[in-house]
Amino acid sequence: MAAMDANSGYDRMKELKEFDESKMGVKGLSDSGITSIPRFFVHPPETLSDFKNSSSTCTNIPIIDLSGIINSKDSDHRLKIVEQVKEAAKTWGFFQVINHGVPISVLDETIHAIKAFHDQPHEVKAKYYKRENELGGVMYTSNNDLYRAKSAAWHDSLQAWMGPEPLKVTDLPEICRNEVVAWDKSATEVAEIVMELLCEGLGLEAGKFKELTFLDARVLVGHCYPYCPQPDLTVGITSHTDPGVITVLLQNHVPGLQVKHGDEWVNVKPVPGGLIINAGDFLQIISNGEYKSVQHRVLANSSKEARISIVIFFNLAKWKGDGYHGPLPELLSPKKPAIY
Ligand code: OGA
Ligand code: NI
Repeated sequence: MAAMDANSGYDRMKELKEFDESKMGVKGLSDSGITSIPRFFVHPPETLSDFKNSSSTCTNIPIIDLSGIINSKDSDHRLKIVEQVKEAAKTWGFFQVINHGVPISVLDETIHAIKAFHDQPHEVKAKYYKRENELGGVMYTSNNDLYRAKSAAWHDSLQAWMGPEPLKVTDLPEICRNEVVAWDKSATEVAEIVMELLCEGLGLEAGKFKELTFLDARVLVGHCYPYCPQPDLTVGITSHTDPGVITVLLQNHVPGLQVKHGDEWVNVKPVPGGLIINAGDFLQIISNGEYKSVQHRVLANSSKEARISIVIFFNLAKWKGDGYHGPLPELLSPKKPAIY
């Protein structure tokens, strides 16, 4: 007898479609009070057993204090920070920055506004619900890859292209419009500072990445990971690497993000006022492997309170379009040949 398929005995496509067409997202499912999750969210045992092997140690990704460089010209101190950023990007691919110059009130308002969007009745959000987001657009969806992934994940997202062309601001949902615009501005300022440090760490001019327009094409994604009644059977986001140059991530106090470090999955503890930065695939390639684009994932949320995270992916369009396909020539030498 043929092995039983985990999905046999039910019409998976029909259930996916019903969920998609309901436009209710996982937030809607969660709010409806269900006690078991639809089967298409259930992940295979090999994925789930890997989730059980999460690190129980107290390691956290490196925390880098930017206070000394924001308003200071102390070059010795700056060199120290450059070293920290370089080391973190090489060995972890992830770090958290604190004292980055953005007031805590701006972080809080951004989180509240994204939460407020997701907290609306799904009939209100439905008007933004789509599957494809053209360059420059805004969309709300549950699981970008709903029809492609083997199993769905327990999150919904609001996405907006913030550049290279300025977004039509009125396309953003009113409930989070001003906050999204303000956050994009603040996060881009932090990204610029971090890119300068990353450049210096490679021995490049500080402004090199900006000059190469890496701050321009960017997508903001406001994720909601609502309470999941069966968090051991599914995931918040499956393990992946990010495609762009860097990602800036702001999260609320509900944990769930994990980063692969060696053979271990390390929990990223939310640090009040902290912003998480990670290197994307594009940075790994252009840096000729100096900086690492590392696997990360999010656990399904077992807390009654929703986990909210807002990510901005920088230099996303270049990945798909033309631009650079290999390491920056100035980083190559006979001793350091291109590995991509
Ligand atoms: C992503 C991502 C993590 C999070 O959107 O690429 O990794 O904490 N998100 O939401
Ligand atoms: Ni990611």
